[in-house]
Formats: sequence, C-alpha cells, structure tokens
Amino acid sequence: MTHALKHYLQFTSLTADEYAYLFQRAALIKKKFKAYEKHHTLADRTLAMIFEKASTRTRVSFEAGMYQLGGSVVHLTTGDSQLGRSEPIEDSAKVISRMTDLVMIRTYGQDKINSFAANSRVPVINGLTNEFHPCQIMADLFTFIEHRGLAVHPLECLQGKVVAWVGDGNNMANTWLQAADMLGFTVHVSTPSGYEVNPAIAGLRNNDCYKVFDNPMQACEGADLVTTDVWTSMGFEAENEARKKAFADWCVDSEMMAVAKPNALFMHCLPAHRGEEVSAEVIDGPQSVVWDEAENRMHVQKALMEYLLLGRQ
Ligand code: CP
Ligand code: NVA
Repeated sequence: MTHALKHYLQFTSLTADEYAYLFQRAALIKKKFKAYEKHHTLADRTLAMIFEKASTRTRVSFEAGMYQLGGSVVHLTTGDSQLGRSEPIEDSAKVISRMTDLVMIRTYGQDKINSFAANSRVPVINGLTNEFHPCQIMADLFTFIEHRGLAVHPLECLQGKVVAWVGDGNNMANTWLQAADMLGFTVHVSTPSGYEVNPAIAGLRNNDCYKVFDNPMQACEGADLVTTDVWTSMGFEAENEARKKAFADWCVDSEMMAVAKPNALFMHCLPAHRGEEVSAEVIDGPQSVVWDEAENRMHVQKALMEYLLLGRQ
C-alpha cells in the first residue's frame, strides 16, 4: 500500500471533498468506458466479493468494473464458503485480506462488516448491510448531478435541494440521511407508522437535514427528486404480509409525482415491484432515471475502488 488503509463502510467514511473528487473521476471513467478506451489502473489487483444476500446489480457492477480496471475478482457466498459453516468473520477477514487487494461485502448487521474491516489488511467496501447502502447513494447522487449538468463544483447542484423518501425507514433511507447531513440537502421522509427512520443509526450531526411527513403526498410537494425502495428488504421476509398492509398508501404514483417539481426525477435502487412501492407509469415514465442509476453503480464504484487502492490520480 502506498497510502493509509481506508475502508468504505458507510456514507460518512468519506468527506464531501472526497465525494467531489470521486464524482469528477467517475465522469471521466464513464466517458472512457463509453469510448472503449482502456483504463487499467488496477492491473493485477484482486477484488474479493462476499455475498451473504442475493444481488444482481452489485455483483455485475463490481465484477465487470474490476475487470475493466484490469483486475480480477473472487466471488464468495455464504453457501459456498466456510462463512456458512460458522468460521468467525474475524478469521475470514484475516485470511481473505492476505490473498486479495480489496474486499466488497454484502451482509446483514453493520457490526459484521465493521468486524471484518477491523481484521482486514486491505480496504473493505459496504455492498449493502441492514443499516446502509452507501455505494447506491453514491450512484444516485452522481446520477442526479449528471441529469442537472456537472456544475463548476460537482456538489453545488445538490445544495438546498429536496429529496422525498416514500416508504420504509430502511438502509437506503438511513444512507440518504447521512448524505443530506454531509452535502447540504434535505430529505422529506414519509413512512408508515412503525417503520420510521432512526436518526441514531445514521448518526446525524444536524437533525435539520430531514423532515418527517405522515402523508407521502406532502413529502413529495416541491421535491427535486422522489425516491422509494421495496416494502420488504432482504432479511425481513417474515414481515412481508404485515408490510403489504401497512405500506398500501406508500406507492409512488403519478399523483405524487405531480406535486413534486415539474422537472423532478424519480429514482429506485432496484429491484422494483411495480404496483407496490411504485406504479408502472412512474418507473417506466419520462421522469424515471432508474436505468442510469443502475449503470452508474459501476462507474462510481470503479472510481471508489481506484481511490481506496491508489488515492487521488
Ligand atoms: N440496488 C442493488 O443493490 O441491487 P442488487 O440487490 O441487485 O445488487
Ligand atoms: N432495501 C433493499 C435494497 C436492495 C438493493 C434491501 O436491503 O433489500
């Protein structure tokens, strides 16, 4: 390693200044990808990807991204590794980090990824935990910036903006709060009763970065971006039926989009359930940028992996 060991465990693991750099770098990396230009900054480096939960986007974006950077990947799941046979996470971290240069983990509790990182010799990236999904929010912010035009400073167009969060107070919601707290925008949160966000999890410095609304329509009023996520996150499947009842009024539909700003964007980290958290009309409509959002996972994560291993280029 040529610089200090740095992990990406939650959105607050990086500073606003580092995000500004990463968004500019991701824009360059994306441009080169589109032009079929080689960008092999991580030649001969290996990324270990550990999945304790299912994934499509996270797997493809990290795996394709690492190959495009000239590196290679090792893919592990709970079922096909000793993690599923109770090898301690600390021991797994010590071993895996002796053979690879970088680790991405998707797991349950944040405590697990924290323990892994504490025992790892190489940078660890959060590919989703019960509490946070920072790579997704990085991609979402980059997508918003792209759609609003890269200003003089990439973070400028986020300041003072309103993001409406409609749905579960989950890992995505917690991470939006962390981003708002750091980057100077406001999240209007509307969740059914019993599924509220817990600001203590996000560890906010300033609680003014979010406002709570009982009515999701009110949360969407004047919003620059409306976003939602599945009613039942991975790991909470036993609550599915109860959640379907509780969340019935938290479907982002064209009426909700109509009270947001006329140029408001719609985002969803995917996978989506049309007719539950979002209507088909909205997710497949002109304000939706969900496919850009998914693609941008790869571009921002390439910038992130490069940064954690090499620092600023
Ligand atoms: N948005 C997201 O993380 O998707 P996957 O679960 O498919 O990785
Ligand atoms: N909140 C969802 C996001 C999936 C990408 C989950 O944790 O299952």
